[in-house]
Amino acid sequence: MFSLFKKSCPITEVFPEGFVDIHSHFLPGIDDGAKTIEESIELLLKMSSYGIQNFTTTPHVMAGVWENSSDAILDKRDLVLEELEKRDLSFIKLEAAAEYMLDEQFVELLKKRDLLTLGEDTLLVEMSYLNAPVNLFELLFDIQMAGYQPILAHPERYCFYHHNFEIFHKLKEAGFRFQLNLLSLTGYYGNSIQKIAEQLLKKGMIDFTGSDTHHMKHLEAFKKIGTEKNLKLLKPILKNNQELSPFS
Ligand SMILES: [Fe+2]
Repeated sequence: MFSLFKKSCPITEVFPEGFVDIHSHFLPGIDDGAKTIEESIELLLKMSSYGIQNFTTTPHVMAGVWENSSDAILDKRDLVLEELEKRDLSFIKLEAAAEYMLDEQFVELLKKRDLLTLGEDTLLVEMSYLNAPVNLFELLFDIQMAGYQPILAHPERYCFYHHNFEIFHKLKEAGFRFQLNLLSLTGYYGNSIQKIAEQLLKKGMIDFTGSDTHHMKHLEAFKKIGTEKNLKLLKPILKNNQELSPFS
């Protein structure tokens, strides 16, 4: 049967004017995102064709895997900015922060306050898809004591929480804000992640959204976000990213 909620709409109609994507991997050769500067530009142009032109991109910082220093990240940001200018694409606005894995390296960086933030004092953090750190709530406390506000990246993707929805309430009560991956609403990561994403949205538990773009395959799937159902779910929160904009 034809369902109103299956009705699709162009992706260009989803995002409000000035929307800032706060989670992506556009900097070249620094993590598992864009490999080359050419790829960085291609991804940014594709996003721009979807109506998103403002980005705080967030390379991984992960012990033993992507040990990117703040300086290395900012150097790559400058490289991409130069290339955008060279190609007359300065309407694309780019800033950089990071997506910090909650690991031992993060603890060291936190002690040194050597962290790149979204807005004034906001940190984008993630945890392993296998399990949460045993000291998760202690870590959260340390982050807050150091004067930062944490956003947990893609809470819907931690499958070990799917049978314990109550933990999402606990995390929020303790002070995490949640960033949803927009692709979760397309089923790209699987049905159960889509379901949890929708549940979190319906309960008003999502604070921010991000594309978490790594490569072109993500951006092909991205078009599927444009449905009446998703539009309704996302409408109340898409404007929230503005709070973290480095451009206004
Ligand atoms: Fe990410």
